[in-house]
Amino acid sequence: MSLAPCTALIDVDPRAPVTARVDALMATLAAATQADYIGEPVTQLAHGLQAAARAQATGDEALTLAALLHDVGHLADPSAPDMQGLGAVNHEGIGQAVLDRLGFAPAVGRLVESHVAAKRYLARRAAYDGKLSEASRQTLALQGGPMTDAEAAAFEADPLHRQMLRLRGFDEAAKIPGADVPGLDHWRPIIEAHLRAQEAATVVAPLTTPLTPAQLAAWRRDALLVLPGALAGDALRTLHTWIEELQGWPETPGRWMKYFERGTEARQLCRVEDFVPYHAGLAQLLCGDALMARLGELMGEPACLFKEKINYKLPGGAGFTAHQDAPAFDTFGHRYHITVLIAVDPQTRANGGLEFSDPVAEGELLPQRPGGAVAEATEAALPWRPLDLPAGSVAFFDSYIPHRSGTNASDQPRRGLYVTYNRAADGDRRADYFADKRATFPPEIEREPGVDYLARAGRYNVGNPIR
Ligand SMILES: [Fe+2]
Ligand SMILES: [Fe+2]
Repeated sequence: MSLAPCTALIDVDPRAPVTARVDALMATLAAATQADYIGEPVTQLAHGLQAAARAQATGDEALTLAALLHDVGHLADPSAPDMQGLGAVNHEGIGQAVLDRLGFAPAVGRLVESHVAAKRYLARRAAYDGKLSEASRQTLALQGGPMTDAEAAAFEADPLHRQMLRLRGFDEAAKIPGADVPGLDHWRPIIEAHLRAQEAATVVAPLTTPLTPAQLAAWRRDALLVLPGALAGDALRTLHTWIEELQGWPETPGRWMKYFERGTEARQLCRVEDFVPYHAGLAQLLCGDALMARLGELMGEPACLFKEKINYKLPGGAGFTAHQDAPAFDTFGHRYHITVLIAVDPQTRANGGLEFSDPVAEGELLPQRPGGAVAEATEAALPWRPLDLPAGSVAFFDSYIPHRSGTNASDQPRRGLYVTYNRAADGDRRADYFADKRATFPPEIEREPGVDYLARAGRYNVGNPIR
């Protein structure tokens, strides 16, 4: 069957944030309490809710969401041609197009698209006719009647065909007036989590490729490895959305930690830390199998997340004095870390991007000035190489290589994720790290008046601009 023209599909930009897409879908479904379900004794909404309630018992997320949304094509496109008063022509194809556009897993759309084919497949059996409602029997004829042998063979060859048949069963059974099933509110968080997981999979995908022998050799030589522009297109766009979400989160005691710097004018956000427990997408990126596998390749043994932060470095934001990370990371007796920089924006000399010096052996600390930064004379004698990175680049560096950055002299933010990992064999100390940091150098919202936090910040403010 050809796809009907889709001129008035659920009105939302497929690139909109997940919450906006869920809002638009929910509004369409909520309106279906009014929509009578063509020739059936339940509303469209009740029909979907009943089908979903049955499907949820399978534990199959794609099948469950397909059951909830299998008839969305009747609702999504008011301009679609009507099938003699029995709903939109090709509502199954419209439904698939809508769900693909909203960012559902492809299997959800495929199942939805199949629910008419499944009826035509089952209609080959004489006994099936008794299960069909009068309206379904009428639409069957308009939808092409029972499948031919060749069509049935093709249907059976589809790897999803068992789920397609189960979906059809839930559909037939979901026409009971007054059935008591979970309402639409039950499904909102489930849909939202599904869309977020799909989005995160897109961001993570570029990191699923193993590092090459040449990349590993470069790492052993330089203690620095760059994957220029690793995240691009949809992956980078989603990363931007996530980082803006964090920027907008309100300062909240006991949760994510927001730090500010102060110039002559108002305070300016410079950092958010401890956000992995609160952001599923970033958690999947930073703690998921792909990045952990790459870190394992670099470490030669399993890695473990130690701490995460995003530096916003808004225009005018100050730089970081030359330093090694190791002295700031030794709280728990760890000797070695790898930090992953994910460049949210381009990192250039003009906007205060990082500069690196030569690698330093594990365990070796350069002379320091008070406060822990590299001593001035040492800094002056070292070679420094700016690292210009396009947005979406991923760079790995160890905790001994000296690095520094300048002021953001551009008129754009220069945001970057800095995520640090230790050897898993040295223990999971992330929670301990953030508990200690909160106690020692808390975010502004958690500070008591009259305490000189800068004086006691110590390792928690090495070389950086937080005031
Ligand atoms: Fe349908
Ligand atoms: Fe249906």
